[in-house]
Amino acid sequence: MNAVPPVIFSGIQPTGRKHLGNYIGAIQQYVCGQDRGDPAIYCIVDLHATTVHYDPAELRDRVHDTTAILLAAGLDPERCVLFRQGDVAEHSELCWLLTSVTPLGALQRMHQFRDKSASQRELVSAGLLLYPVLQAADVLAYRAHEVPVGEDQREHLEIMRDIAERFNARFPLRRGTGEGRSGGDPGTGGDGLLVVPEHKIPTVGARVRDLQEPERKMSTTGGTEQGTVLLLDEPATIRRKFKRAVTDSDDPPVLRRGDDKPGVTNLIDILAVMRGATPAAIEQELASARGYGDLKVAVGEAVVAELAPLQERYRAIRADTQGLEDVLAAGADKARAIARVTLADVREAMGVGPPRSPGG
Ligand code: TRP
Repeated sequence: MNAVPPVIFSGIQPTGRKHLGNYIGAIQQYVCGQDRGDPAIYCIVDLHATTVHYDPAELRDRVHDTTAILLAAGLDPERCVLFRQGDVAEHSELCWLLTSVTPLGALQRMHQFRDKSASQRELVSAGLLLYPVLQAADVLAYRAHEVPVGEDQREHLEIMRDIAERFNARFPLRRGTGEGRSGGDPGTGGDGLLVVPEHKIPTVGARVRDLQEPERKMSTTGGTEQGTVLLLDEPATIRRKFKRAVTDSDDPPVLRRGDDKPGVTNLIDILAVMRGATPAAIEQELASARGYGDLKVAVGEAVVAELAPLQERYRAIRADTQGLEDVLAAGADKARAIARVTLADVREAMGVGPPRSPGG
């Protein structure tokens, strides 16, 4: 790997219903990324939220909810770039420019487009089809190297990489005298104008399962209500959800992980993350436990202990709407300063707008 710190970029949907899977799988990775990325850039994607039916006033509130959750979880606007997508017009502009190298057929074949357009009761908007192009623009505008997102974003990452490679091949980098330089080896993105980013799938969080149906991922859309632990659930609710978690019918109970034991494995994995320990260490510790009840209580308490301070910070931060807007505005300024440079290069390479002045 290169010694130069990577540019990290991730996008997060504006909702107030973030759950434990989002926390472990994404939000905690964002917080760690602040120390590794140069910069680490996190974007709340309000423009993506307009691709399905939505309520405009609610969208603003949900952006504030999400911003407050991220700050409460430990994002520090001094150490990362945290902003709202709609504040930086470069995303929309780059999205349009990238459509020129995006095959229509590839967009029509995307699973998310097919699923979401099939389930849309209102209009199936063109935005739904272009969703992956906007997502590509989000990342490519910052020439990001790493994109920490879940397994479910695999197709989006593939098409994003494809768009970057096609762009680099179609619009080779030109410098100074107008002498063309090749777009580099497609596939590495070597010295092309745009960086071809890498997908970083979190190892543990990708596995957080629904507590009632542990064969599926924890999710606010596809999961069960009782099996989904929301970050803003009351402590009593969190304890209850863990107490009622589905384990299995092994008698006597067997406190170990395994593909045949998704419920128990999930609880052990969550406890390990909360304690900052390995799942193997947790298994050892549980050797003296009497049954699944001990495990459920231990996980419930550990999650309450982790989330209670987060919730307290959330309430204080969320109450100050102007403070949130100030944070987002400062983040947007930092984001724009980076994206603007890429857009100037892209416009120049594509022959859009006036030629760049020499030395500009
Ligand atoms: N589509 C992503 C999701 O649903 C959100 C997103 C938008 C994103 N733009 C992005 C993620 C850019 C990573 C990079 O979770």
